[in-house]
Amino acid sequence: MAKLYVNPNVKKGHLNPELQGHFSEHLGRCIYEGIYVGEDSDIPNENGMRRDVVEALKEIRVPVLRWPGGCFADEYHWKDGIGEKDKRKKMINTHWGGVVEDNSFGTHEFMELCRQLGCKSYINGNLGSGTVQEMSEWVEYLTFKGVSPMADLRKANGHEEPWKIDYFGVGNESWGCGGNMRPEYYGDLYRRYQTYVRGYDPKAPIYKIACGANAGDYHWTDKVLETVFDHGSGFMNGLSLHYYTLPTGDWGKKGSSTEFDEKDWYRTLNRTLFMETLIERHGAIMDQYDPEKKLGMIIDEWGTWYDVEPGTNPGFLYQQNTMRDALVAGINLNLFNKHCDRVKMANIAQMVNVLQAVVLTEGQRMVKTPTWHVFHMYRDHQDGELLESSVETGRIGLEEEFMVPNLTESASLGRDGKVHVTLTNLSLEDSAQIEGIFADASVKSVKGTVLKGGMREHNTFDEPERVHAEAFGDVEAAGNRVNFTLPACSVLHLEVTV
Ligand code: AHR
Repeated sequence: MAKLYVNPNVKKGHLNPELQGHFSEHLGRCIYEGIYVGEDSDIPNENGMRRDVVEALKEIRVPVLRWPGGCFADEYHWKDGIGEKDKRKKMINTHWGGVVEDNSFGTHEFMELCRQLGCKSYINGNLGSGTVQEMSEWVEYLTFKGVSPMADLRKANGHEEPWKIDYFGVGNESWGCGGNMRPEYYGDLYRRYQTYVRGYDPKAPIYKIACGANAGDYHWTDKVLETVFDHGSGFMNGLSLHYYTLPTGDWGKKGSSTEFDEKDWYRTLNRTLFMETLIERHGAIMDQYDPEKKLGMIIDEWGTWYDVEPGTNPGFLYQQNTMRDALVAGINLNLFNKHCDRVKMANIAQMVNVLQAVVLTEGQRMVKTPTWHVFHMYRDHQDGELLESSVETGRIGLEEEFMVPNLTESASLGRDGKVHVTLTNLSLEDSAQIEGIFADASVKSVKGTVLKGGMREHNTFDEPERVHAEAFGDVEAAGNRVNFTLPACSVLHLEVTV
């Protein structure tokens, strides 16, 4: 019997809702088809946004949405995406499939999507191929209330009032697709560009995010901070980090999303757990510059990356989503909670039809993926307080190099006054008997939701409910204890009233 300890009286930090954030890029069928179908579409929509998709996303309480990329951000010129649609410039999306981008989804449409979702906005500016003036004018267009050339243009385009922009990224992957820069050079450019990301409304400050490292590139983190870190003068609020989970660790042959075996399972989970090492090691460098932890670590791209589904455009990054993805999601969301002292936002890549999507679409049809269900089960952590908690684990796996703990967990005191515990069981074979011990508390009631299934199980358009969360009955409470059996290959949410 493994012991799970939760202390409802010891709070360890605030869980920003943004830890469960999302990312949508002009890539494949994420924006077009997946979210935006246009007002004249046969697919039911509100101002061009698919109603079914928006509804599914509202159910998981999407807290923040990053846009327009990704690599696309550094070749996006925002003025191409405003004004009358039939007059908007068409361009080639060189990064993603070489398709024609007609710019029918632009600034106004993105802000309308955020309005419909009720989420915060995270816009990623173009530092790679855009000018300082262009970035500066975008911020003016978006947020300036008074009389100015860009505010007047926005009004002429039908939006009288400025929008609130919550987060602004200054370049994306500037070490790679965003300009192939060295960290010192990027750091200097960042200093310059961010100067003109003006905070026009002191009551609505913009949180500025510098481009951080690719996975384990600690040199990048160190040099960018050495160049940029401002000791409080407002140059930067956050530094990003990108890390994708590839089953093989090989970009040339990543592996299939659905055709995999038990070894691939543990390799994938082992590789996703590397996220904790990354948080700790990049975090230690950030601590050297910012011991008070004012600077947020913004993990604005994470998730699984497999070979594309056979027969689909390789540039569209469309992949299926199985119970393996559910475990990856549950493990990472637990990790982000545990490290909420430094991690302030995380954005899964990507929201619809691309990489580890929460929703897949095909014509009129839509399915919620296992990953969607995990976000749904974890949503009560949003805005909660992380609680002190731990679980006893054993090492499992099939290869010494890719061993993993059998369990992960995190616990929070939710805004609803309940204790929320989320657990993942990484074992393909063994259920786990768990005795939950709630320190100095008496458990009044407990209820749960579980997502379980075979490792390759997934939802299809013909069988959209094959993997779905269900009520968890296998739980008993007495005194300060809660006993339950966590099925193999599962994710669990317990809501405990103490
Ligand atoms: O999410 C897909 C791509 O991955 C993004 O455009 C880029 O930032 C990253 O390399």
